[in-house]
Amino acid sequence: MSSFAPIAPTTYVPPTLVAKDTYVIHQVQEALGEPLFVYLNSMVILGKEPMIVDTGTPGNRQQWLEDVFGLVEPVDVQWVFLSHDDVDHSGNLDEVMERCPNAKLVCSWAMIERHSNCFSFPLERCRWIMHEESFDVGDRTMRAVRPPVFDSPTTRGLFDPTTGVYWAVDTFATPLPDPHLGIADLDPDFWEFGLTMFAFGAVSPWLAMLDHAKYGQHVDKSQSLDITTIAACHSPVIEGPLIEKAFEKVRAFPNVVPPPLPDQSVLDQIIAATSVPND
Ligand SMILES: [Fe+2]
Ligand SMILES: [Fe+2]
Repeated sequence: MSSFAPIAPTTYVPPTLVAKDTYVIHQVQEALGEPLFVYLNSMVILGKEPMIVDTGTPGNRQQWLEDVFGLVEPVDVQWVFLSHDDVDHSGNLDEVMERCPNAKLVCSWAMIERHSNCFSFPLERCRWIMHEESFDVGDRTMRAVRPPVFDSPTTRGLFDPTTGVYWAVDTFATPLPDPHLGIADLDPDFWEFGLTMFAFGAVSPWLAMLDHAKYGQHVDKSQSLDITTIAACHSPVIEGPLIEKAFEKVRAFPNVVPPPLPDQSVLDQIIAATSVPND
């Protein structure tokens, strides 16, 4: 029987302050078969009632717990916002709910239906918050708004009106040629390629089936927020004029021809390139 051993990230990037009291927690993963890197981020908001936004991955558990609880004492955490039930967003949910006895878990009925097979939801600590609903966290009213591109029916992004930070979950996912590059450093063509490849290949293949006008109305719901900073699980932060550019690229997805994805021949090449010959 094999067991899963958490591994350290390939490149350590310490938490970054992206707005007042708002930190992004990072993990960097090497892409398979390409010299590219992918972020697996989450977020901590140190307001009057501190909040953890998504809970990282099992593969980075030790570092993630150190990073998060280096910023906030577990006993002070009042809220855990779970964007959806994918393992790169819910990977340390057990540990967080156990270590943070005062935290309420912002989730939903569908999340419990989908995720109870591997997590025992403490129902009395749960708050069900749906798309377009708000909740008060003492010094601000957070708003849950579904992001343009998503890979679970449970996905809601999170907007903080006091800082203008929007947690966009899996939208704006892109690989990077170097994990230290920001979005402004990327060649615009590479960024467009990365956004398209990940959106169609790793998050939402149904983008090609959409009615452009209806999808546009959906994108309006998040873009009309007063966003000053986009933080997302699989992207460096997006700020300033790049926010409009990012929405523009994502809005155009229904007109984009989906890129071809790596198939078995690529896997054969990866295995051949990494296998040790027998003498
Ligand atoms: Fe996801
Ligand atoms: Fe994700």
